[in-house]
Amino acid sequence: MLLIKNLRQIVQIVDDSSTEFLVGDAMKGIKILSSPECSLCIAIRKKEGKISFVGEESEVGVLPPGVEIVDGKGGCALPSFVDGHTHPVFAGDRVHEFAMKLAGATYNEVQAAGGGIHFTTEKTREASEETLYGDLERIVSRMIQSGTTTIEAKSGYGLDEETEMKMLRVLDRASSSLAIEISTTFCGAHAVPRGSNEEKQTELIVDRVIPRIDEAKKKGELKSVENIDVFCETGNFGVESTERILRAGQSIGLAPNFHAEELSYIGGVEMGARIGARGMSHLEEISHEGIEAMARARSAAVLLPSTAFILRLTPPPARKMIERGVIIGLGSDFNPNAHCLSMPMIMSLACITMRLSMEESLVAATINAAYSIGRGATHGALSPGRQADLLLLSSNRWENLIYQIGDHSHLISTVIKRGKIV
Ligand code: NIG
Ligand code: FE
Repeated sequence: MLLIKNLRQIVQIVDDSSTEFLVGDAMKGIKILSSPECSLCIAIRKKEGKISFVGEESEVGVLPPGVEIVDGKGGCALPSFVDGHTHPVFAGDRVHEFAMKLAGATYNEVQAAGGGIHFTTEKTREASEETLYGDLERIVSRMIQSGTTTIEAKSGYGLDEETEMKMLRVLDRASSSLAIEISTTFCGAHAVPRGSNEEKQTELIVDRVIPRIDEAKKKGELKSVENIDVFCETGNFGVESTERILRAGQSIGLAPNFHAEELSYIGGVEMGARIGARGMSHLEEISHEGIEAMARARSAAVLLPSTAFILRLTPPPARKMIERGVIIGLGSDFNPNAHCLSMPMIMSLACITMRLSMEESLVAATINAAYSIGRGATHGALSPGRQADLLLLSSNRWENLIYQIGDHSHLISTVIKRGKIV
């Protein structure tokens, strides 16, 4: 057993395992325990990596011999972050494009000029599996230092069969070897590669790559591949092709979780809600009907504040979504366009640019993001029976993580994944 004691504050979020997400006003009413005497504790069954008790030290009961004690030093504990949207495997960053974007070139202009996803795809195709894995390992360790212990992570810089499989293998290996938990997403429809067109790329994905993933999964390889993604956008994949690809993914057991209505409204959300997508990301241009449809379908809206910030897009109507009962999650969208992996920074941006309250942004970065990758009942909250994924802060007020914008390294003292200090 591991016992974390001397805590002044525990941000539980919810105290049960039956709640898989929070919506509307419930996002503000999260459960926070406080004790000026610093007498709170969390007990963890190390073998199972699960929480067994949260509350006053006087109530923890008899401790087994050999219990390992961690001193919380009067700070606070909160669930570690679930990053609902990342593209962490790539070669070739795009620092050389940043000045162009700052000078006003739009996302689509950069891509049409041969940059953007095309540049990264070229470099990723050339890179060896070992290089990609090594780079991912370094990125993951920075994510963990920033308090993230579970990520959704996409392929999508191969766009051909072999490179997409290479990326999926890199993610799969990372998911079984690194201290971060990965819900891998196949995103071979991230863009139409040079020399192809929407129809050809759709066929490649549906007729060749998805069956190959299916085969690999049946053989026990690619264990972490759980989701299917498409960049549903004008100039990339229209609603019809997107539906075809997502349904093909569903037919082999993958959950649709895709990019929709980022730069233009084309009705991807309405389709996603109709086919039961588990999550949809970006949503800057979502329609009123789309919001209602997402709320009804219980499909998570994974909002990506750093991307809207960097591209100077009008942020999605997060307040309206919350009012209408949409499940709001957050993601860093870490990728060569939006080079930010820090979830505390993402929460600060969500509060400032999307007008979320600090409680709402924490819910979105924990239990609701977990829901968007099918882990809402087991991750993202500190309640008995849930996975012991948590952070200890040196501060006794968790809000400092959001308030001290972009400066969390001195606040996060300990990161715990499945009951182990990482
Ligand atoms: O989520 N919008 C599409 N995909 C990524 C960007 C990928 C890239 O530009 O490399 C995103 O922002
Ligand atoms: Fe993305």
